[in-house]
Amino acid sequence: MKLGYMGKWPQRQRMGDFKYQEIKTNLKYPWLIMYGEAGCGKTAWALNWLLEHGEGWEFFSTIEFVDWLRGAVRNELSVNNIIGTAAEYPLMVIDDLGNEPVDKFSNFGTVYTPREIMIDVLFRRHQAKLKTVISSNLTTQKLRDTYGDFIYSRMKELSTWVRFTGDYRQGKPVKVEVVR
Ligand SMILES: Nc1ncnc2c1ncn2[C@@H]1O[C@H](COP(=O)(O)OP(=O)(O)OP(=O)(O)O)[C@@H](O)[C@H]1O
Ligand SMILES: [Mg+2]
Repeated sequence: MKLGYMGKWPQRQRMGDFKYQEIKTNLKYPWLIMYGEAGCGKTAWALNWLLEHGEGWEFFSTIEFVDWLRGAVRNELSVNNIIGTAAEYPLMVIDDLGNEPVDKFSNFGTVYTPREIMIDVLFRRHQAKLKTVISSNLTTQKLRDTYGDFIYSRMKELSTWVRFTGDYRQGKPVKVEVVR
């Protein structure tokens, strides 16, 4: 179990005004995709989810995930093993999908981009139908363009999609809408 959110548990947010419980108890699919612009509370939602879940989860921002990969590669660990590990957590939060760095690195003679690795992780989690919570600043169209129809079609199949608008940081009221 790992928590990257500034290294400590956040204060539990007041989620009552937020349809949070209602949406959470009515989820029909194993994946939850929360998308919307910066500051609308997606990460806070994911963290509350974990607080309520108990043991057996993993939380990564995409940037931390790539840091972890780079560290492992420096220590001559296999990227495939890391993908395998990430693909087995019973509950995984992938925070900020789409924000992974775009550079490349090589591992045992193969060159990888973080995005390709993310696609592999998503593909395997889809195959195994493991609970996955994704937050992203990308629109659905951008998610499709970025990860391709191959992954997007799987995301559509397995996920509840929740769209956030507004911005707590700028004091703009936040709205949450289940779009699927
Ligand atoms: N339900 C809530 N009520 C009040 N404040 C909240 C709520 N949810 C989040 N916040 C506050 O709003 C700010 C932004 O929240 P958060 O980081 O979760 O947004 P985000 O959508 O993940 O943003 P980004 O896309 O930039 O990562 C934080 O300071 C957080 O504490
Ligand atoms: Mg966030």
